[in-house]
Amino acid sequence: TDVLIVCGGLSHEREISVRSGHRVGGFLEEAGWTVHFHDMDSTLLDYLSDPSTRPDIVWPLLHGANGEDGSIRDVLELVGLPYIGSRAKASRTAWSKPIAKNVVRKLGGLSTPHSVTLPESLFRELGVSKVIGLLVDSLGLPLFIKPTMGGSALGCTMVTKAEQLPQALVSCFAYGDVALVERAITGTEVSVSILDIDGEPLVLSPLEIVTPNGTYDYDARYTPGPTDFYVPARLDAATMSTIRQAALTAHRVLSLRDISRTDFIVDDQGVPQFLESNVTPGMTDTSLLPQAADADAYHLPTLYSRLVESVLA
Ligand code: DAL
Ligand code: MG
Repeated sequence: TDVLIVCGGLSHEREISVRSGHRVGGFLEEAGWTVHFHDMDSTLLDYLSDPSTRPDIVWPLLHGANGEDGSIRDVLELVGLPYIGSRAKASRTAWSKPIAKNVVRKLGGLSTPHSVTLPESLFRELGVSKVIGLLVDSLGLPLFIKPTMGGSALGCTMVTKAEQLPQALVSCFAYGDVALVERAITGTEVSVSILDIDGEPLVLSPLEIVTPNGTYDYDARYTPGPTDFYVPARLDAATMSTIRQAALTAHRVLSLRDISRTDFIVDDQGVPQFLESNVTPGMTDTSLLPQAADADAYHLPTLYSRLVESVLA
């Protein structure tokens, strides 16, 4: 069986995708699979269609645009290859943070921080001081500014003072046309990974993230050292069970498949506040899903193998 890992791509998370792809590929090789790698570019379609290179199964490990917005999955559906991960339509829904927030709130009954979306054009039209006034009046402070679609915290800024808002919005618009302006919740940052193996969702232990400056930004994600991780999270048993249940609810109402990671802030009342679900969670050596699996005593080559086998079955 030939497994093709598609990684790289042209998103801002290209480098992370290469790391995720090679890490997973290495583990699958260790487990005895024949693994090939391909970038997400114009030559992919030929590679997938040519009988001499066509793989048996594809694991798209592309983060960000093209990887998580459904496009790679559309291509795989077009060429009729089995692949690991959510379908194109579900990926698209999860990829848009405001849409995903609405879905999990309305269909899943989950809590999610209050937020508004702000297109860059409206920001320019209304002007800086009017936008500051509107956002601070409606949501208060502190706020989290993030691109509605994006990953690895790129373009995200925590704003504690109104005068920081314009710069935060400008940074956000470098990554996309629309900003999600979200009330910043104080609490515990917790992430829950799910793998569908043999038709059963395997919910890994909730992982708690503690960063020295309180922001789990790009550097904190991919530079080992400053960030502390606790698996299981240091929360009481009832809260832990609520979080696992919330992650399962998000996975289900967003129609996610095979693998997902849902990120929450557990607020001071112990309520998990949904931030987002990732259809291609990071799989690098510092990423969350592999750390949670490790802590739960799963052998990663075996775990990833079982996922591939489940999808092939
Ligand atoms: N977007 C990165 C890869 C993550 O969620 O882990
Ligand atoms: Mg993400």
